[in-house]
Amino acid sequence: MCGITGYLGFREAYPIVINGLQRLEYRGYDSAGIVITSNDKSKLFKTKGKVSDLKKIAKKNNLEGNLALGHTRWATHGVPNNENSHPHLSNSGNLVIVHNGIIENYDTIKKELIKRGYTFHSDTDTEVLINLIEEVQIKNNCKLGKAVQLALTNVVGAYAIAVYDINKSDEIIVARLGSPLAIGIGKNNTEFFVASDASPFIEYTKDAIYLDDEELAIVKLGKKIRVRKIHDDSIVEPNIQELKLNLEQIEKGGYDHFMLKEIYEQPSAIFDTFRGRLLADKGIIKMGSVDNNITKFLNAKRIIIVACGTSWHAGLVGEYLLEDLSRIPVEVEYASEFRYRNPIINKDDIVIAISQSGETADTLAAIKLAKSKGAFVFGICNVVGSSIARETNSGAYTHAGPEIGVASTKAFTTQITVLALIALKLGKLKGEISTSDFHKYLQEMKLIPSKVEELLKVNHEVEKIALTYKDAPNCLYLGRGYNFPVALEGALKLKEISYIHAEGYPAAEMKHGPIALIDESMPVIVIATKKGHYEKVVSNIQEIKSRNGKIIAIVTEGDTIVKKIADHVIEIPETEEAFAPLLTTIPLQLLSYYIAVMRGCNVDQPRNLAKSVTVE
Ligand code: M6R
Repeated sequence: MCGITGYLGFREAYPIVINGLQRLEYRGYDSAGIVITSNDKSKLFKTKGKVSDLKKIAKKNNLEGNLALGHTRWATHGVPNNENSHPHLSNSGNLVIVHNGIIENYDTIKKELIKRGYTFHSDTDTEVLINLIEEVQIKNNCKLGKAVQLALTNVVGAYAIAVYDINKSDEIIVARLGSPLAIGIGKNNTEFFVASDASPFIEYTKDAIYLDDEELAIVKLGKKIRVRKIHDDSIVEPNIQELKLNLEQIEKGGYDHFMLKEIYEQPSAIFDTFRGRLLADKGIIKMGSVDNNITKFLNAKRIIIVACGTSWHAGLVGEYLLEDLSRIPVEVEYASEFRYRNPIINKDDIVIAISQSGETADTLAAIKLAKSKGAFVFGICNVVGSSIARETNSGAYTHAGPEIGVASTKAFTTQITVLALIALKLGKLKGEISTSDFHKYLQEMKLIPSKVEELLKVNHEVEKIALTYKDAPNCLYLGRGYNFPVALEGALKLKEISYIHAEGYPAAEMKHGPIALIDESMPVIVIATKKGHYEKVVSNIQEIKSRNGKIIAIVTEGDTIVKKIADHVIEIPETEEAFAPLLTTIPLQLLSYYIAVMRGCNVDQPRNLAKSVTVE
């Protein structure tokens, strides 16, 4: 879960690669580095810290050169320090590499290389790999592309790598297994870009190739890209795709942080997710990927949802939606647990994998396992062309647009939107929802974007609440039914960006333990919407109040009862209970955001995290 990028062509490489690294910083920001080559002479700069720190170090130097590789790191092997930062050089100083992934058998290879006289300056698996490539090249007296290919047949693990020889500045070798890699192609092959995603090069070219697992590409100036399978050496005809992404989508657009921008994008993101699918006036939900597999969906005895983090919370909402509306039994699994516990998967089961990035290693592994057991796997992803989107049998994109803030916001609401569409469609076809109810749901879904828009106006109220509780050491989030996963998500949002310890619980579980934590300094955020077990939640609120806890309640517009008991209330527009998470989650996102800003935290790049978790 690092970001790699590179340039080879006729322009100055440094500004392209540095800007690219800044766009990829969401993938990790423990350290950064760049190597620039001009006339077979190279300059290497690397440092612990962010790309902005790297820029400070590099700026006093002559940075000319038309070939460069850059790296932004999320540490796996070795602490984040200057030595462990990428790029790494081989012992001869001729070969240079940037790597995203983990070489699991690096220790064995390292011992072997040490026996052969190699020395190491870092604790990384990557330095081992570049020396292995060098050793293979010397031993076989072959070209760099061949040496990389042969070396990779000896490694176990995951990688997206870019390698070049500083004495041969017209060629970069790239390869992938388990970590993403895109290649941007300039006009007539006069320039090339390589990167973990297409964001570093979208202003230069719209033509890109996404490498598949086990593929290696030789990127050579003036030549067509040549792609081969690493293990059997077969030639692959590269599929050049036209990128749909534009620059504006990956910029902050006047907001202080990407997270805030993405929170505010939710009305349009939800709309874009159901556009063309929800035909409310015709009373139809049209989803090609579900329609094409409708027999499988209608005959499914069980749906297993696999995901991680926020996507797992969306999966929990999906469980409520699918069981409630379409009456199909659902299990929601952490992908990391599912993949290792020999799960029982029957031929009539459908596995739904949910992932914003489409690159999460645990989710990807869970998909591969499910497929190997014969399951039909359906993906719900945001990133077009991502590994999960390609690995699944079928799927639906969320169309949320790029989510850059590490804290997931619009991905959550758009994933729920897709799940709601599927649940409604199946419920109707299975005769579990009457025609009149179905029409009611569709009309209501149509209104959700404008209700979210309206709800976002609570920002000033939420800001005031944030000011009151920004120094709380702990926080509890409670909800029932559809709002239980929202409570979990609210707690995750707060802890990941503000570093306040927070926990989410089903409201009724409070009395089985968490109630012991409640005193006058404990803020408790309770979701108490009218259609969601309201009376029961009101009783839970009373229980907290009688122990002097501070209540921040999310209630339905016009509520009078909770208003009398709670310390603060935030009103949300009325909606169907099944759609409540699309609204109740909004004030919780804002609350975490404002608290984190007030505590001086780095909202978009919280410590120790990365946006795309491509390691186990
Ligand atoms: O890209 P994915 O949806 O697969 O990512 C899963 C989690 O890593 C992600 O949701 C993570 O929990 C976020 N930081 C939460 O805000």
